[in-house]
Amino acid sequence: MNNLITISLSINGVLEEVSIQPWRTLLEVLRETLALTGTKRSCGEGQCGACTVLIDGKAVNSCLYLAVEAEGKNILTIEGPIEGDPALGIIQQSFVSKGAIQCGFCTPGMVIATKSLLAENPKPSEDEIRGALVGHLCRCTGYVQIVEAIQDAASRLEQERGG
Ligand code: FES
Ligand code: FES
Repeated sequence: MNNLITISLSINGVLEEVSIQPWRTLLEVLRETLALTGTKRSCGEGQCGACTVLIDGKAVNSCLYLAVEAEGKNILTIEGPIEGDPALGIIQQSFVSKGAIQCGFCTPGMVIATKSLLAENPKPSEDEIRGALVGHLCRCTGYVQIVEAIQDAASRLEQERGG
């Protein structure tokens, strides 16, 4: 008996069938089974936010989320497509142009968290941005450029909507 079960996961709009042990986390399946290594593993215990993905539009720590629980839900990772929903690409451009990336290890989680924040709150205040980043650790930037990048992304997205 190999303990494997087969599940289907909708990742970035593509249905992926995987045979996995039922206790595997979504993070492990993304990185090790599907080679989607943009989602990072740092603490592995829900403290740092590096592994953040969106599940049905909600930011979650994929290191604490069993892959089987994600079956039937829509998973978005940093590799997600930008056609039809330019937010992911615009946020990434803002992180680059504002110098919000140094080693880059926290960046995928920060970008995904930003997508979730701006979908719910298109014009967040600085306090609201900082509140949304609680649980996202960056050892390099001191967060100032990250906050600026998120403000920049919010205004670029507003322009995109014709605001
Ligand atoms: S690796 Fe998941 S929160 Fe740190
Ligand atoms: S840029 Fe290095 S951890 Fe954030």
